[in-house]
Amino acid sequence: MSKLLVTGGAGFIGSNFVHHVVGNTDHEVIVLDKMTYAGNEASLAGLPADRVRLVVGDIADATLVDELFSQVDAVVHYAAESHNDNSLHDPRPFLDTNIIGTYTLLEAARKHDKRFHHISTDEVYGDLELDDPARFTENTPYNPSSPYSSTKAGSDLLVRAWVRSFGVRATISNCSNNYGPYQHVEKFIPRQITNVIRGIRPKLYGAGENVRDWIHADDHSSAVLTILERGVIGETYLIGADGEKNNKDVVELILETMGQPRDAYDHVTDRAGHDLRYAIDSTKLRTELGWMPAYSDFETGLANTIDWYRNNETWWAPTKDRVEAFYASKGQ
Ligand code: NAD
Ligand code: DAU
Repeated sequence: MSKLLVTGGAGFIGSNFVHHVVGNTDHEVIVLDKMTYAGNEASLAGLPADRVRLVVGDIADATLVDELFSQVDAVVHYAAESHNDNSLHDPRPFLDTNIIGTYTLLEAARKHDKRFHHISTDEVYGDLELDDPARFTENTPYNPSSPYSSTKAGSDLLVRAWVRSFGVRATISNCSNNYGPYQHVEKFIPRQITNVIRGIRPKLYGAGENVRDWIHADDHSSAVLTILERGVIGETYLIGADGEKNNKDVVELILETMGQPRDAYDHVTDRAGHDLRYAIDSTKLRTELGWMPAYSDFETGLANTIDWYRNNETWWAPTKDRVEAFYASKGQ
């Protein structure tokens, strides 16, 4: 049994990982989360108090981080400002958390010699053309487009430098777009599901041809635990489940699954610098560490996600109006 520190563990993917760890191991978990607009304690509901403890604080608080690192065996770092649209509006928190926050954690990992796993994104590689047969691999050059993805790229490079220069025992994973329960309603899929529930027409940026490579959050969590247990120090692993779909198809599937006409959506102002296509080749993770995704059927995973938002309005309703007001102010 070990004790893990999970940063950002009250967010969408971090909370999924905490549930996964509790259900599949005997590890104890300390969650360090600043509880920004994206953190929600309700996402940790039902977890045993003798195995999971929430500490509210900032990953950039070196004193707090130092104290917590002394109490754990390993650290899994999810905490981030995570939304591209917010980064176009106000980049500063992205620098503070994604760069300075990660630096603060790395310094503590170095001082305490703790195993460190850094959660990152496929967006560090930029985007692909729609008709390009290529997919991202661990050797694709970094070419981030947005303030969000550039700060994630910067954080990845810090981790690599701390491995090489200081011998920090770290691994990195870069995952594609996650979907599933507990995702904030600012993000594409939950925004459209909750719009339909509220009687608002879904909003598609531009022509809707942009492609994202969808993976269920449960599969992301199983991959991260696999890397934590069997990953080679200093290595990067791409996580993906062969789930490429364009946004138009996803909106139409949501509408159809929710009993609405497939064309009952609006085209709105496109995102500035909008990445065209992401696609992950996860061969290394599958062949070297033996990981496989459990969700092969996007339609079923999406239908279950829709049911979850229908049954858990108290979880998302408090944030919905503010999010829609923000988008409306941008013509989106
Ligand atoms: P999220 O926005 O839902 O959650 C982020 C969490 O981090 C929140 O609980 C927030 O309160 C916390 N946080 C923010 N700043 C903090 C700080 N300074 N100190 C402590 N806690 C802080 O994000 P998510 O979608 O769950 O993403 C989690 C991680 O996974 C991020 O690193 C993101 O880059 C990465 N990622 C996300 C996706 C995706 O599709 N959502 C895909 C690949 C990688
Ligand atoms: O690829 C991994 C990344 O996936 C993560 O690193 C990010 O943290 C995560 O937010 C996600 O980034 P995206 O920008 O791809 O996700 P988002 O949900 O914001 O948008 C998905 C696609 O849908 C994108 O092409 C923009 C589009 N979109 C989004 C919204 C909110 C719309 O068409 N309409 C919308 O209302």
